Amino acid sequence: MATQDYKQLVFALLAAVTFGVVSVILVLVWVLHYREGLAWDGGSAEFNWHPVLNVIGFIFLQGIAVVVYRLPWTWIYSKLTMKFVHAGLHLLAFTLVVVAFAAVFDFHNAAAIPNMYSLHSWLGLTALLLYTLQLVLGVGLYLVPVAPPQWRAAFMPLHVYTGLFIFSSVVATALMGFTEKLIFSLKSPAYSSAPPEATLVNVLGLLIVAFGALVLWIVTRPHWKRPGEQTLLSSSPTTEEEDNVQGSAGPALPQPSEGLAGGLRGRSVAKQTDMDD
Ligand code: HEM
Ligand code: HEM
Repeated sequence: MATQDYKQLVFALLAAVTFGVVSVILVLVWVLHYREGLAWDGGSAEFNWHPVLNVIGFIFLQGIAVVVYRLPWTWIYSKLTMKFVHAGLHLLAFTLVVVAFAAVFDFHNAAAIPNMYSLHSWLGLTALLLYTLQLVLGVGLYLVPVAPPQWRAAFMPLHVYTGLFIFSSVVATALMGFTEKLIFSLKSPAYSSAPPEATLVNVLGLLIVAFGALVLWIVTRPHWKRPGEQTLLSSSPTTEEEDNVQGSAGPALPQPSEGLAGGLRGRSVAKQTDMDD
């Protein structure tokens, strides 16, 4: 990877993380300063866990998990290590989302509010079901070394597509949730009179869109993909090669003059062996 390209990747990653972190801060400012705070009491403060944990888990952590293979400073670690990080972050995100769901259902049941009537809730539940399936299949195919290499390779384009589809759906679902909540709860002054709370949440929605857009951009650049280590260091087939045998274009490999991709900054790339998986 040319130095210029490496700089662009790092810039995009830093910008994405900044948008993500500021989104998490703003959702906390919203519920703690403008709303009822956080508690587990069946009331509005319990509902507030729903946006907070969904933004932290389903949006921020999922987004980071999705780009984690693209962090140049992780390319010195084995593919297996990065699979554990990718899967671990998704599992953590999943756990937070389950609590976010429990919070809103518990709040609705305590206040006798009907469940699952809105488009937001339909899309949200669909996203969670797909995420669960993706997690189970991801572990079964890529972490536990039981699936034949051909299966892993054949499933990879679907894994990537479904992952990006779920991530995008969750961003859309969150935007609907913010709008609903502002319309429900801003009465006087009304949402239509643009009080500061509404402006804050509108800005939060824009930041989440920016975060999502950057994550999608980073993950869809073939030349920013983790280098195929086996091509650099070994002629024997490896699990990385097997995972990506078809289609999933590898990056332009670093030229010797670039000192291992600039991104690797002269450090040696972890050698991947069949023992990794
Ligand atoms: C309700 C999912 C984010 C606001 C719900 C329900 C689900 C859901 C399944 C139905 C609960 C029930 O029927 O008892 C999601 C998912 C999100 C998300 C997957 C991922 C980002 C948000 C955010 C907000 C929000 C960021 C902002 C405040 C609401 C509101 C309700 C609700 C106001 C109650 C009204 C309704 O059922 O539509 N959400 N939500 N949600 N959510 Fe979310
Ligand atoms: C790659 C999503 C769970 C293994 C990817 C990519 C996405 C994604 C979007 C493309 C990343 C890139 O091109 O840089 C998801 C989602 C998951 C999930 C949403 C959870 C619901 C898992 C699990 C594993 C796994 C549990 C098990 C290890 C992989 C592998 C790659 C990958 C091996 C290929 C990375 C590469 O080409 O370098 N995943 N994933 N995923 N994922 Fe997942």
